[in-house]
Amino acid sequence: MNLQKFVDELPVPYTLSPRKQSSNHSYYEVIMKEFSQKLHRDLPPTRLWGYEGTFPGPTFDVMKNETVLVKWINDLPGKHFLPVDTTIHGSESTLPEGRSVVHLHGGRTPAHSDGYPEAWFTRNFEQTGPLFEREVYIYPNIERATALWYHDHTIGMTRLNVYAGLVGYYLIRDKHEQSLNLPQGKYEIPLIIVDRSFNPDGSLYYPARPDQDDAGLPSPSLVPPFDADTILVNGKVYPYLNVEPRKYRFRILNASNSRILTLKLDNNQPFFQIGTDSGLLETMIVIHEFILLSAERMDVIIDFSYCCGQSIILKNVTSNASAETTEVMQFRVAQPLTSADTSSLPFYMGEFIRLSRSMAKRTRDLVLIRIQDQYGRSLNLLDGKMWIDRISEKIEVNTVEIWRFINIINDDPHPIHLHLVDFQILDRQPFDVAHFEETGNLIFPGPPDPPEPYETGLKDTVRAPYGYITSIIVRFGPFTGRYVWHCHMLEHEDYEMMRPMEIFETPD
Ligand code: C2O
Ligand code: CU
Repeated sequence: MNLQKFVDELPVPYTLSPRKQSSNHSYYEVIMKEFSQKLHRDLPPTRLWGYEGTFPGPTFDVMKNETVLVKWINDLPGKHFLPVDTTIHGSESTLPEGRSVVHLHGGRTPAHSDGYPEAWFTRNFEQTGPLFEREVYIYPNIERATALWYHDHTIGMTRLNVYAGLVGYYLIRDKHEQSLNLPQGKYEIPLIIVDRSFNPDGSLYYPARPDQDDAGLPSPSLVPPFDADTILVNGKVYPYLNVEPRKYRFRILNASNSRILTLKLDNNQPFFQIGTDSGLLETMIVIHEFILLSAERMDVIIDFSYCCGQSIILKNVTSNASAETTEVMQFRVAQPLTSADTSSLPFYMGEFIRLSRSMAKRTRDLVLIRIQDQYGRSLNLLDGKMWIDRISEKIEVNTVEIWRFINIINDDPHPIHLHLVDFQILDRQPFDVAHFEETGNLIFPGPPDPPEPYETGLKDTVRAPYGYITSIIVRFGPFTGRYVWHCHMLEHEDYEMMRPMEIFETPD
C-alpha cells in the first residue's frame, strides 16, 4: 500500500509503572488484549493484539539487580484474526487460538519464567500448555544495563502473535551507565522497527498461503519468511521526529518477523555506536551503516548539532528493499535547542568479560539445513532435528562452549538466538558447501572473517549467512533448566527451526 511518508509524528511508548513496590521487588501486571490503533494518518484504526492495549507495548525501565515480578494476563479473544495453520506442530486445531506466553528476549531469566513455548496460557489461565508452571514471572535483572525486549513466544503461533502487535521494550539501567552522562530523558528514544502490510480497509494483511502453487497445501498454510511492504517505527508508518540540534541516544530494535534491515542516514552522517544486544561496548565505534536482523538491537548516538534546518532520512539499504521499504523514518532538525547539550559522547565505556577459545570445553557443529515437508514447502532445521526430537544440547552450568553454525541453506542469513545467555561472535569462515554436502568434510577456500566492528560487543542473536561457519563462544548459565535456541525469523521459528536446550547442574 502506498502511504504518504513522514506525515505522522514518531510516538514514544510510555514507561510502565509498577502496581506495588517494596524494598526488594517491584510488581507489575500487564494485560494482553485486542484493540484498534491508528497507524497512519490515512488509515482507519487497525485491529491489533498488544500489551496493555498498545502497539508497541509500554516500556519497562528497571535497575540492574532489581527483582521484577510480572503477572502477564491474557485477555485475548479465543479466535485469532490472522491465518492459523493448524497442521504445524503445537498449533493443532484442538488448541485454543488465543493462547500466549511471554519471553523476555536477552534476559537472564530462571527457566520457570523464561516463557517456554509450551508454557502458554489462555484467558484467566483457563487452559495452559503442557509446560506451564506459574502465573507470575520473576526477572532478577542480573545482566548488564541494556535494551531487552519482551514478545510473544507461543509454540506454532509466535509469528502471528508478534505480527498482531505483541512486542515491547525492557530497558535495564545500572550505575555505571548512568555515570557516563549519555543523552537521556527525552533525548533517549527507542526505535522499534517492523514491517507490516495492510488491506485497503486498514486491517493487517498476513498471507494465508505461500506464493507457490498451492494445490494440496493446507489452508491456511504457513508461509516462508516474507517482507511486508510498509515500515513502521514505534507503531507509526514512516514517522518523522522533530529533533533539536544536539545529541540523541537511539535504542534501535528490528522487531520484524523476518525482514533484514541495513540502516544508514541519507546524509551519510555517522552513528556513534555505544552498545549491542547485550550492553555497552568497550569503546565507541563510528559506523555509517549496519545490518540488523530480526531481534538484533543497536545502541547509538546521533549528533544533530551540525544539521540545523536539515531533514535526514533513516534509510534501509538492504538489497532486497523495494522502493517503498527503502525509507524508515525522518529526523527534522527544525527545533531550536531548549538548553545547551551537556551530555557526553563517551569514547571508553569500560571493559566487559571476554571469553577466549582456550576456555571452551567443547565445540558443537550445528548444521542449518533445508528439506521439504509433505506439502512441498521448505522446512528449515537446526542440525537436522525437529522440535520434538530428543534434547541434544545439554550443557553443564557455567561451562564455556563454542557453537559453530554451518549454514548450507542457500538463502537469506538466519538470525540465531540463544535464550538465557549472551555471547561473543568469534568469526565467520566461508567453506566449500558442495564438498561438505558430498563428504561431510569441511574445506576452507579462505580465512575466517572477523565479526563486523559493530558486532564486537556482547550479543544474543547472530547472523548466520549461507556458505559460512559462524562461530560464537558462550558461557552457559547462571541458571539451570530447560531453555530454547532458535532462528529468529518467526516463520522459521514457528516451523521447527527451534530446539530445546538443557543447562544442567554440576554433578557432585
Ligand atoms: Cu526473541 Cu526466543 O526470542
Ligand atoms: Cu531461519
